[in-house]
Amino acid sequence: MRKKIIAGNWKLNKTVSEALAFAEALAPLVAGKDGVDIVICPPYTALYSVSQAFQGTGVATAAQGLFWKPSGAYTSYVSAPLILDAGAKYVLIGHSETRGRFGVAEEGLTPDLLKAFGETDSGVNVKTHAALQAGLIPIVCIGETLAERKDGSTDAIVRDQVTKALDGVSSDLVRSQLIFAYEPVWAIGTGEVCAADEAGRVCGVVRKTIESLYGADVANAVRIQYGGSMKPDNAAELLAQEHIDGGLIGGASLKPADFAAIVAAA
Ligand code: G3P
Repeated sequence: MRKKIIAGNWKLNKTVSEALAFAEALAPLVAGKDGVDIVICPPYTALYSVSQAFQGTGVATAAQGLFWKPSGAYTSYVSAPLILDAGAKYVLIGHSETRGRFGVAEEGLTPDLLKAFGETDSGVNVKTHAALQAGLIPIVCIGETLAERKDGSTDAIVRDQVTKALDGVSSDLVRSQLIFAYEPVWAIGTGEVCAADEAGRVCGVVRKTIESLYGADVANAVRIQYGGSMKPDNAAELLAQEHIDGGLIGGASLKPADFAAIVAAA
């Protein structure tokens, strides 16, 4: 049986003081929930403070991304060793927003500005290797856009993203460390949650893809989260799906009570 994991991705939200207030409020609400891995992904600026605040509470932290080099002349980036040093255990890799694939239409993002969001499948792969080599647990995000869903290419997109992310990763590390998060881009931030049975079916495609690469034993060990408008009122149905082992929560992770309600549904 795979242990459920609920992660809250704060994206570009919360000052250090707001983050610490959240941590103080969340800890008692999830105390004793040892049967679920609970993760908070704050902005880099609050990562150390939040990691410190959650020490001893059972809540872990994650960075929202990383650069694949451990150190050097790379202005503005953060590396796996520095993320570990800040107290995080997990790292998000390849979130659709880093790939420039937004659920909510982004006003004013001209094609030139969109180049700033240039994550690619090969970038996801080298960052996955870097995270694993440093001892971080990667949560690799994949998912189709609305246009890709409409033209029937959801399964092909998901298979391709999973395969490219895993290129060269050993079966032991896939089995023991790696987590996938299926986030249909059209459900992110829109309130349009994917129907539970369809979300479960696509997570099954993720698992089948891993099986085709590493065999059933490894595939059945990998945890697959769903993300995209998961809320307290729809979490239980999504988390009851055979191939959904948790949630990657955006908007509903910003309020302690909402996030705790989703943890309680796991
Ligand atoms: O990474 C999780 C996020 O993309 C989902 O956002 O607001 O739809 O829960 P939201």
